[in-house]
Amino acid sequence: MSGDRASKPSSLLRNPVSLLGIAVAGVSTAFGLPMMFLDMFSRRTHPYLGVLVYLVLPFVASGGVMLIVLGVIGERRRRRRQPGLLVPPLPSIDLNRPAHQVATVSALTGLMVLVVLLSVTGYRAYHFTESVSFCGLVCHQVMKPEYTAYQHSPHARVACTQCHVGPGASWFVRSKITGAYQVYAVALNKYPRPIQTPIKNLRPAQETCEQCHWPAKFFGAQQKTFNHYLADEANSPWQIQMLIKVGGGDPKVGAATGIHWHMNIKNEISYVASDERREVIPWVRVVDPEGHVTEYMSTEQPLTPEQVAKAEVRRMDCVDCHNRPSHIYRPPDRAVEEAFDAGRMDRSLPYLKREAVRLLAEPYATEAQAKQAILKRLAAFYQAEYPALSREKAVAIHQATEALQQLFAANLFPEMQVSWRAYPNHVGHLNAEGCFRCHDGLHTSREGKVITKDCNACHTILAQGPPEEVAGAKLQEQPFRHPVDVGMDVTEFKCSQCHTGTSGL
Ligand code: HEC
Ligand code: HEC
Ligand code: HEC
Ligand code: HEC
Ligand code: HEC
Ligand code: HEC
Repeated sequence: MSGDRASKPSSLLRNPVSLLGIAVAGVSTAFGLPMMFLDMFSRRTHPYLGVLVYLVLPFVASGGVMLIVLGVIGERRRRRRQPGLLVPPLPSIDLNRPAHQVATVSALTGLMVLVVLLSVTGYRAYHFTESVSFCGLVCHQVMKPEYTAYQHSPHARVACTQCHVGPGASWFVRSKITGAYQVYAVALNKYPRPIQTPIKNLRPAQETCEQCHWPAKFFGAQQKTFNHYLADEANSPWQIQMLIKVGGGDPKVGAATGIHWHMNIKNEISYVASDERREVIPWVRVVDPEGHVTEYMSTEQPLTPEQVAKAEVRRMDCVDCHNRPSHIYRPPDRAVEEAFDAGRMDRSLPYLKREAVRLLAEPYATEAQAKQAILKRLAAFYQAEYPALSREKAVAIHQATEALQQLFAANLFPEMQVSWRAYPNHVGHLNAEGCFRCHDGLHTSREGKVITKDCNACHTILAQGPPEEVAGAKLQEQPFRHPVDVGMDVTEFKCSQCHTGTSGL
């Protein structure tokens, strides 16, 4: 008997490490498979289930397989070193023996099933890590501001990766490498608050935005109505109607004018920013279609030629204006005005604009704290200042409170220090410098050309004033009229010097 045993040594798998590996691989597969089918046949990908099934369990299962192999290698070494212990020879396969035929076929079938399973998992893992729910929800504390703002944006149905990764293998690999670092940064709580912007390695707009938007498409002039409300007792409305000369166009087809044409198609415009966020732009270069080069320098904050030579020159593209196509954080005054427009807050409540802006603009440590403060203080204001009205309009005050809490949650994220201040919008020039970063009338070339601040270069105002007045007025080009007299010609200044997103305070 004992001789028989010696000639048939026990399997190399019989060692503690391999046995542990078998257990780990077996248990994780037994758990993972049903969950994967569950996920494949359910309509929505649940982010945490996805992380478990496509990232954690495959990792654990491969760990188990590694343990099995390591255990076998270790066991082999151990038996070789100790005389008297036998190492089993590699199996010899004889396909003429029926038993071996069966064994070979089952081994091959098993292998094929494994390969299919692995590719399905890999494919699903790829789709899962590209999904909006993975990007937006898995590290929800970190991505909450971007995900929330995204859901309220015109691009709410465009996947994160269509702007942030785009098509092609090399950007896919890059995104997975930086993605792996981001997972590490989140796990160890090492990420910056707010997340730094602009994103340094954002893919060029030609390869993302222009997959859907056709830059030469001619938009013509767009008529837009801006509804404002002053911070007075009546929340007096003020309307501005204007034509924005978006333009665009292909000279081969016809009309070619306007903002998109000048800034994006006809000329190659590059610039140097003196801050990380590209808010301050002292130097701009234009190369026109004939190859003439014009360089403009800000007379306010000029750079020396050495500074320009050393600086990183960026070619302007879509995101230099449309830097918030999807993550739009409204300043308090805009947010409140939009809520008035939508009828979500009763405009007949005295001083509601002023009080609402004040409550949104306050610094809070957490969203919960902000909501609590809004709940208490809006009601308290009306109780103290308008006691009769506060009883009469209790419902309207309650609705305004709820709307204000929602506005806070959609636009301000104290935990991540995200707000309109951290991420200003570069289209326009009212609440941030935006176009006026260059179009401030102070950027001058050596030949004496100035980047225009002409109020009619980008748009023409057709009507302005209280809405009843605008409704009756003939639409015609007219100079800008500031809604309140501030004792000076405001067009001499940058609007954002006074309009910091909390106007009226
Ligand atoms: C329509 C295109 C688009 C979509 C869709 C999109 N983003 Fe963005 N994202 C941008 C642009 C443009 C920026 C700003 C780049 C800059 O200023 O350099 C940005 C910036 C960011 C930032 C940096 C912080 C900031 O706000 O500047 C994060 C984080 C981010 N996006 C995450 C996401 C997530 C998560 C999703 C999906 C839920 C998503 N993005 C969907 C275009 C997009
Ligand atoms: C996957 C396709 C897709 C990609 C990629 C995409 N967009 Fe869009 N974009 C759309 C669609 C569709 C709309 C129209 C949405 C609507 O009107 O509801 C739109 C609307 C817009 C608008 C008008 C918004 C408004 O307020 O009406 C702007 C500006 C814009 N996109 C800029 C960008 C920029 C900049 C990028 C690149 C960072 C980009 N888009 C990437 C599909 C896309
Ligand atoms: C110089 C700044 C600038 C650049 C660069 C720029 N845009 Fe615009 N774009 C504007 C302005 C201003 C508007 C008018 C939007 C408004 O008033 O809200 C606009 C409007 C749009 C609209 C909306 C048109 C509509 O009918 O609603 C889309 C879409 C758009 N841009 C896409 C792009 C894309 C894609 C690129 C890059 C190829 C680009 N833009 C480059 C400034 C710019
Ligand atoms: C990086 C600097 C820079 C920014 C930011 C910028 N522009 Fe310009 N823009 C220029 C330069 C430089 C020219 C002059 C081109 C030339 O020399 O013909 C110009 C020209 C124009 C023109 C043609 C003006 C004319 O004289 O007819 C329009 C329209 C325009 N820009 C719109 C915009 C709008 C709208 C924005 C903001 C959304 C904007 N630009 C932001 C640099 C900038
Ligand atoms: C370089 C282009 C450019 C120049 C120059 C310019 N604007 Fe504008 N302006 C814009 C754009 C783009 C918007 C639209 C922003 C938007 O769609 O939210 C805008 C919006 C406005 C609005 C409406 C803002 C609101 O939210 O109600 C007013 C008012 C205005 N501009 C006044 C002026 C005045 C006054 C001047 C001259 C001192 C001027 N603009 C010069 C590009 C320009
Ligand atoms: C010297 C400071 C100052 C400058 C510069 C200034 N404004 Fe104002 N603006 C005010 C004040 C104060 C109000 C009244 C706020 C209120 O009662 O809500 C106001 C109100 C407005 C309103 C009514 C809506 C609102 O937000 O209250 C508009 C629209 C407006 N300004 C546009 C502009 C534009 C466009 C420019 C740049 C051309 C500009 N302003 C420059 C101080 C300024």
